[in-house]
Formats: sequence, C-alpha cells, structure tokens
Amino acid sequence: MADPSSRKGERYAQPELLDWLDALHTPHDVALQAAYEANEHHGIPAIHVGAAEGKLLGLLLQLNGAKRVVEVGTLAGYSAIWMARALPADGRLWTLERDPKHAEVACANLAAAGVADRVEVVVGDGMESLRSIADHAPFCAVFVDADKERYDQYGRWALEHLRPGGLLLGDNAYAFGKLLADDERGRAMRAFHEEAAAALDTVCAPTPDGLLIGRKR
Ligand SMILES: C[S@@+](CC[C@H](N)C(=O)[O-])C[C@H]1O[C@@H](n2cnc3c(N)ncnc32)[C@H](O)[C@@H]1O
Repeated sequence: MADPSSRKGERYAQPELLDWLDALHTPHDVALQAAYEANEHHGIPAIHVGAAEGKLLGLLLQLNGAKRVVEVGTLAGYSAIWMARALPADGRLWTLERDPKHAEVACANLAAAGVADRVEVVVGDGMESLRSIADHAPFCAVFVDADKERYDQYGRWALEHLRPGGLLLGDNAYAFGKLLADDERGRAMRAFHEEAAAALDTVCAPTPDGLLIGRKR
C-alpha cells in the first residue's frame, strides 16, 4: 500500500531511518568498508551504489541462480564484492573498467574480500571489453553502471548475450533525474529502457537514481 504522493515519488525515507536499516540489513566487514570508502583512501570518486543496492544486486543474482555475471563499471569494486559473494564457488564475475587506477584499487579490494578467485577485472573500454569476453556467453546477468551515454549499446549487447531467464540490471536509470532530457545521455538511457522493455520482463525500481531490472523471456 502507498498513498498517492509516495506513488509519485515522495519518500518516507529519512537519513536516520536509512542508517538504521543499513546497520541491520547490510552490515559491512572490513573489506566491504574499504571499497565503500575508496574515495577517502585513494581519491576515487564516491559514485558507487549504496549498501541497499549492493545487497539487492547480490540477492537478485542468488534468486536467479546466477553463475556467470558481467559488470560494466568497476570503480573500486564495491558492487563487485556484493555480487561476487553471492555467486557459487564455481561462479565467475567479469567486471570491466576503463580507468587503470580504479582497476588496481578494485583488484586489491576484491582480494581483501576473499573473492579474487572468482572475479576477473578487465581493463579497457567497456564495449571493447564486452567483445573480448563474448566467448563466455551466455551470461546469467549483466549489470550496467558505467558511462550513461552508452547504456543503449551496453543494453543491446546484454540482450544478445544473456541466457533465457538472465537478468539485465542498470543503475542510474533515472539518468540523475535527466531521463527525459533531449541530450545524448537522455536519448541513450531512454533507448536502454525501451529496448529492454520490448525484449524482457522489466521494472524500474525506485532506488535513489532508479535501477532497471529485466528478465529475459
Ligand atoms: C559509477 S562507477 C561504478 C561503480 C561500481 N559499479 C560500484 O557501485 O561500486 C562507473 C565506473 O565506470 C567506469 N567507466 C566509465 N566509462 C567507462 C567505459 N567506457 N568503459 C569502462 N569503464 C568505464 C568509470 O571509470 C567508473 O570507475
């Protein structure tokens, strides 16, 4: 149940309430906290998903029985740790990152989190890296969290390389509130939504900046 205002986007959430929930549902160990705070220690921008989205990504992978997962946009490895920890022992995550410094910090964080054996950090441009790992298809899930102007291209690649029942996940699906803007980012993000909705069972979950969730039919 929700009242009309909350259905239109008004939030009941308050900072204190969210802190209480995070402490209960998404506690961090040392490794996860190090990735969360990478901006403080390494000067990397603090643009990772929140704790609730990280846990949600992991739960979605587990509910889906995912084994082979792709992430576009590693940063310091925070979301990668959540997802890698949700995989079975023989699971694999390919996480793609353009910035060598981000990739180096991510590798250290993933090792500290005890998941380096099941994660490959692929350094380079996202589209080129996707082409380089295509031989491992079909994938169980693709999480898109990199340059917003190319979400349409990442989404198309995912539609081609997901197994039936596989998941397409896209953070920043509101495009920082500019989803309907007549610019490159808005057009790419709308195409990402439209093409996903045509090919998958989809919803845009109202996380802080929207999370597209789609399941291939
Ligand atoms: C929002 S951050 C990823 C956050 C990460 N998924 C998390 O929640 O912990 C986006 C990352 O994508 C990387 N990136 C941007 N454009 C890219 C591209 N064309 N190819 C690969 N990585 C890219 C950036 O360097 C940055 O590290």
